[in-house]
Amino acid sequence: MPVYNPTPVNWTKKVIGSSQRSEADNWAITDSVSAICWFLEEFLEAECYTDNDGSPIHTKSGKRMAGIIPVHLYGLPVDMKPLLSLAEEYNLLIIEDACQAHGAEYRIDGEWKRAGSMGITAGFSFYPAKNLGALGDGGAVVTNDHELALKMRWLHDHGSSEKFIHQSANGWNSRLDAIQAAVLSLKLKVLDEWNARRRMIAARYQEMLEELPLALPVEYDNVRHVYHLYVVRAEDRDYLQEELSARAIQTGLHYPIPLHRQKAYQYLGYTPGSFPNSEKSASSILSLPMHPFLTFEQVDRVAAACSEILSI
Ligand SMILES: Cc1ncc(COP(=O)(O)O)c(C=O)c1O
Repeated sequence: MPVYNPTPVNWTKKVIGSSQRSEADNWAITDSVSAICWFLEEFLEAECYTDNDGSPIHTKSGKRMAGIIPVHLYGLPVDMKPLLSLAEEYNLLIIEDACQAHGAEYRIDGEWKRAGSMGITAGFSFYPAKNLGALGDGGAVVTNDHELALKMRWLHDHGSSEKFIHQSANGWNSRLDAIQAAVLSLKLKVLDEWNARRRMIAARYQEMLEELPLALPVEYDNVRHVYHLYVVRAEDRDYLQEELSARAIQTGLHYPIPLHRQKAYQYLGYTPGSFPNSEKSASSILSLPMHPFLTFEQVDRVAAACSEILSI
């Protein structure tokens, strides 16, 4: 498993881009509020409730896609079945962004698959706050493709296949520190347990918040969400956030500015209103406290505060 430090999705694309890019030059992403990829030429709109969308896949410009980067956002696996069929039909590469979804699962044709095991390759982030986090930056790229794995190994070590032998002028130093690898190996053993704990906390939130005027995270029968983040939607999100803050409850916005509104992507020519769902999401989402060590008492305190604020 090659390791990198950091930026998994870009890293993966660099590898594929150097070897398998065909006449098709257009990449699409199913999530418009998170991952940052310099090579993208077109975004797809996000579905309203999960910020993920497996279908339909098309580009507005009508350009042929070379690949798709499904982002398992917040820890909820994207509905991969339609994407995988599409990829097979049109010979598209699927690069999973599993940076928020370590251990998440998706059932396809009766079989449970882990996020990151369904595309040709996938990127995982080990940023400290992730479900599997190091003590500093780090990440991994995974693949079942032997040739790709070989090239990834070269790239992560200055294009070198063995000491003093350089196979490619492409490459850089993205070796993961041994100390981080040691920490990650230990934490990997408890990942499933911590994810189970996150799921229990999410269930408690669900129970305590369901009567409130909030849209809560959705989970389908064929997925196991790992709740990297617990994101609700509120009509007057800013007010709710301010009031929670006044009660010493810290929340987050993931993410406040949709990609098509970022300066970095102005060259794509999008304007306000190009992706209304994403814009609506950006103005209504709120990440409530979530980590495996949160107690039910703390969850109840957050829920009680939400109830008090929203009932006024
Ligand atoms: C969905 C997603 N993609 C990509 C990244 C980038 O990961 P890193 O910062 O480790 O390169 C992150 C990190 O926050 C992420 O959440």
